[in-house]
Amino acid sequence: MQSGLLRLGFTGVGRDFPVMAPESPLFFTVTLLFSDQFASAPMTRAHAPGRVEVIGNHTDYNGGTVVGAALDRGVEVALRLTSDGRVRLVSNAKPADGVVETSISTYAEDEWPDWCAYPLGVIDEARLRGFLPAGAGLDIAIHSDLPIGTGLSSSAALELAVAGALFEALPDTNASISRSLLIEIAHRAENRFVGMPCGLLDQTVVGRARAGHLVVLDASTNQSHPIRLPDGLGFALFRSHISHALVDSPYEVRRDECRKALMGLERFIPGIRHLARLHPADLDAYASVLETRPSLRARHVVHEQRRVGAFLSALHQGDAEAAGACMTASHESSRAFFDNSIPELDALVQFSNQQGAVLGARLSGGGWGGSVVALVTDNFDTKQADAICDAYEELFEVRPHWWRTSASAGLVHELLTA
Ligand code: GLA
Repeated sequence: MQSGLLRLGFTGVGRDFPVMAPESPLFFTVTLLFSDQFASAPMTRAHAPGRVEVIGNHTDYNGGTVVGAALDRGVEVALRLTSDGRVRLVSNAKPADGVVETSISTYAEDEWPDWCAYPLGVIDEARLRGFLPAGAGLDIAIHSDLPIGTGLSSSAALELAVAGALFEALPDTNASISRSLLIEIAHRAENRFVGMPCGLLDQTVVGRARAGHLVVLDASTNQSHPIRLPDGLGFALFRSHISHALVDSPYEVRRDECRKALMGLERFIPGIRHLARLHPADLDAYASVLETRPSLRARHVVHEQRRVGAFLSALHQGDAEAAGACMTASHESSRAFFDNSIPELDALVQFSNQQGAVLGARLSGGGWGGSVVALVTDNFDTKQADAICDAYEELFEVRPHWWRTSASAGLVHELLTA
């Protein structure tokens, strides 16, 4: 390693996750940023990828199953634990903000730019759980190659990268950090401090992904497992030019409509705990008792759960075309029944599906903007991507960004200097 930092031996004792991947260019950039701004070397580093939601739209907070994959882009964090009680944050993505400074005793009342809510939320969770030593302060530098506001979970990536780097730096905790704890802390930070009532998909995929594998999360038990992405398949991501910020979107309204649907149906189907686990025949029998919107949302969620099952069996049986068809059907259901698509995403799905090497495509994540994910074969090339971008540009006068990716590894973190 060339950065001049002392790299300590890494035994992995007590850990339930893989050791650090080799340094990326992101690491060198974040280290430079750190030493420029804080005139010292970082103690720890972490890298957390973005994620793509492959299928299972809005099933997670309905107790269903959802499938995701980690991206080859993400957030890199370098961190030093100090003893001055100050919190200093700097991000390459927000150069105009410079170093944002607050303190462990005042950050809850201080004013800071919006992006600081993610690292501060994680720090707040750690503090509330008694992990921060008395008088502790933190210097944190952030660098990312993951576009923000594109539905690819830059927020979960930032939370988990901060959580990984922070817990690695805390005395006595670094040998026993469990991946579940980091995921829980990041998720609580998002729900409680940031105020976005998301389900567990993003933090689970970012935290648990393995290279070459999809992550399957059963949100009724919060258990997840990896399944191999078959050889010859990958993803192409197309970013609409409509930014997506879930905190300001109807996400919470949709959650509430799903809750109303469950409450309405509970009177007739005793014992149902999760909307996604309802049998479609039961929904057909009782949907008329629901108001229109809860009924449409329930229809999407119940059938989406079945589509996730069909997608997984298709992959298992080596039928990639059928798996792709499930993804396109998922998009159609999101559009028609969950009302979380927009014309830009519909167009990207339609144009993607016109290309021979695309097996299926859908909006990824919350919706109302952000990105489309297409399941593609190895034959997918720049010519096909250009055709999709040309058609989109003709319609909306903006060219979408796109990139080809496979399934990458999840969060990694390590101690650099004592
Ligand atoms: C966002 C949320 C997830 C999930 C998806 C929709 O990405 O953060 O928890 O609800 O939307 O499936």
